[in-house]
Amino acid sequence: MHRFADLPCDFLWGVATSAYQIEGAVREDGRGASIWDTFAAAPGRIAHGDTGRTACDFYHRHGEDIALLSALGVDTFRFSIAWPRIVPAGRGPVNAAGLDFYDRLVDELLAAGIQPFVTLFHWDLPQALEDAGGWPERATAEAFAAYAEVVARRLGDRVRLWTTHNEPYCSSWLGYVTGEFAPGRTDLAAGAAAAHHVLLSHGLAVAAIRREAPSAQVGIVLDSWPQHAATADERDVTAARAADGVRNRLFFDPVLLGRYPDDVLAALGAAVPPVRDGDLATIAAPLDFLGINNYSHNVVRAGPDGRPVAVPPRGPTTDMGWEIRPTGLYEVLLRLQRDYGSPPLIVTESGAAFEGIDDRDRIAYLDAYLDAMLRAIADGVDVRGHFVWSLLDNFEWTEGYAKRFGLVHVDYATLARTPKASFYWYRDTIARSRAERAAPAA
Ligand code: GCO
Repeated sequence: MHRFADLPCDFLWGVATSAYQIEGAVREDGRGASIWDTFAAAPGRIAHGDTGRTACDFYHRHGEDIALLSALGVDTFRFSIAWPRIVPAGRGPVNAAGLDFYDRLVDELLAAGIQPFVTLFHWDLPQALEDAGGWPERATAEAFAAYAEVVARRLGDRVRLWTTHNEPYCSSWLGYVTGEFAPGRTDLAAGAAAAHHVLLSHGLAVAAIRREAPSAQVGIVLDSWPQHAATADERDVTAARAADGVRNRLFFDPVLLGRYPDDVLAALGAAVPPVRDGDLATIAAPLDFLGINNYSHNVVRAGPDGRPVAVPPRGPTTDMGWEIRPTGLYEVLLRLQRDYGSPPLIVTESGAAFEGIDDRDRIAYLDAYLDAMLRAIADGVDVRGHFVWSLLDNFEWTEGYAKRFGLVHVDYATLARTPKASFYWYRDTIARSRAERAAPAA
């Protein structure tokens, strides 16, 4: 059986990370503060009072981590650039030492034969911009475009694969509406404005990257948890559609169709985002690929007021309490290509939190999700790559270090790295896919 027979010959195998979750060195070489430094320092926000101060110390240990990437045999490494290292105050002076760090990282990856896959924003907004109003302010979108231009000018001669944002739903909705994530605000109108300005900044940054790096392949990474109704009851179905509106269509529709979904705008009422003429055309700039992160789904029912309420998962879960549901990935890939005519897709994150070094549960999870992706490809969906979240155990946002997503175990006392069983499984999977493509079935 040739499991990988349908993969394109340039299919990209990778692993994904983000700056605040792995780098540490938060006060080094001129880095400014980010909203996650502030949020993590506030009592009660993060489990066990953990912060990203040291994290995996990737800032100093990336040589060791690139050796792990080589041993794994990945084609590409997804990492994010910390805006506050490049422009410490969010706008204004550029910090040369910050650019130099990523410049060296890119060179070291290329020397190891690994393609850099850059994310420009993985939630670490410079605190100075939050102090000036944050994402609800249009000026933040303009500052992001200026930062993107600086980075693309410096790295664009060597970096081919770029994404603007990671999961705008999290940076806008969880940051400004539910307050679960930094900056921890709870204001619907601010959140809707934040979502619009994050998306606008994406469109502005796409243009900046294309100007500075004409051969760049540019995309965005969207969060994509299907929202399923708990029952066939009309009220639950309506609630699931409302949840899908905020969680998925509020982002899929403007990026891929150039409009906001009417039902979501209607539900926002007076909190509708401040959209100016031309914004939606900017947001819907053609992309070379769309990155999809998928971990699970939500089952929702209608609460007493008709609004969606999540119900507890029915099937087995990971340590995050997220239901293991590989068909959700299949569903999302098909939906994006069939309903949205999306550009080629890349699974930019797939992964699970489990304990242990002999992590058979992680292997089973990844293998099942991989199957779902392969099934989507066999059914005609154009998927060009697959990244495991994550290379290393790391700072899992409000869960701190308590939840481990890595293929590589990190001992936070010594920062020692130990590959888990899943590391060797992924290495062998990648090798097998290459061997099968080199010797296709007759
Ligand atoms: C995300 C992320 C990661 C998380 C991972 C597990 O986009 O949510 O990119 O930062 O750590 O998803 O929760």
